[in-house]
Amino acid sequence: MKLNIALLPGDGIGPEIVDQAMKAVKAVAQKFNHELEYKQALTGACAIDAVGDPYPEETHELCMKSDAVLFGAIGDPKFDNNPKAPVRPEQGLLAMRKKLGLYANIRPVETFESLLHKSPLRRELVEGADFVCIRELTGGMYFGDKGRKDDGNTAYDTCIYTREEVERILKLGYEFAAKRNKKLTVVDKANVLESSRLWREVAQEMAPNYPDIKTEYMFVDNAAMQIIQWPKNFDVMVTENMFGDILTDEASVITGSLGLLPSASVGIHTSVFEPIHGSYPQAAGKNIANPIATILSAAMMFEYAFDLKDEGKLIREAVAASMAEGFVTEDIAEGQAQSTSAVGDWIAHWIEKN
Ligand code: IPM
Ligand code: MN
Repeated sequence: MKLNIALLPGDGIGPEIVDQAMKAVKAVAQKFNHELEYKQALTGACAIDAVGDPYPEETHELCMKSDAVLFGAIGDPKFDNNPKAPVRPEQGLLAMRKKLGLYANIRPVETFESLLHKSPLRRELVEGADFVCIRELTGGMYFGDKGRKDDGNTAYDTCIYTREEVERILKLGYEFAAKRNKKLTVVDKANVLESSRLWREVAQEMAPNYPDIKTEYMFVDNAAMQIIQWPKNFDVMVTENMFGDILTDEASVITGSLGLLPSASVGIHTSVFEPIHGSYPQAAGKNIANPIATILSAAMMFEYAFDLKDEGKLIREAVAASMAEGFVTEDIAEGQAQSTSAVGDWIAHWIEKN
């Protein structure tokens, strides 16, 4: 099969971790006889510095022509403390989501036995937790009407959803639940927000079409609490953009391993695979960052974008082997810590041998 991939390494540690993921991708492609075609483009702060736009047209065209996009991270501290910066790296990410129609962000929350002691939760609460957060990614407050009133001292952001947007993301939620443990938790704030009442109304209409799946409704404040109290009660959680942003950060840390979690953003034109962590500027160029979240994002790319399950599985096995061996970076190493590139080489080599 021909695999046509766009690489957007981005900022900070992005280039280093995408390099390691590509070692795994190349090893798998070679092993399974896939023809690999890939091109790189700018996004984020580096794109602002180079061409003044965090998601340049050229980058967008490359993504549109590709079957999948492997993304590193964006962000640079020089923008964070300047609320008046005319363009920001994050705008590139939002523009990319909107223009590629990436309406669903899928974040699996899985635990790794060897890292349970790093979880902020007690082992018995988190051991065996395994759920998926599906976050709506192109609607809600992120993209609704926003601005200042004339006096400059009154600001507003509008949370807006259409029935179609809600239906398509709930449908994806049900498809995931059908392949998993048959429970869908719809998270909203329907006791207060009209947009949430639309979500709940649509969900209640759709639920009877999925008789095998238990649909559960939960207010977002309660969900925030239950994620840390009973994480094992969740199977598939689906929610709007802003709630999903907050809850997925919360969910990611309970595994004790932010540096290990991948994500997929899927939608209309192509799909984007990226680690859930940020650009970690303090570590940029030092060859110390953990590449595993990006390598696992590459595994998701094989599974979701190309429907190549064995290829994804082999990458996952290679990652598990490196962890079992303790051949890992300093954030999770118990003994001798390895460099980013050494871990990437080890995993690619394991794929070649197995
Ligand atoms: C994420 C990030 C982004 C978001 C930022 C960088 C715009 O936090 O992918 O979760 O809020 O969606
Ligand atoms: Mn976020």
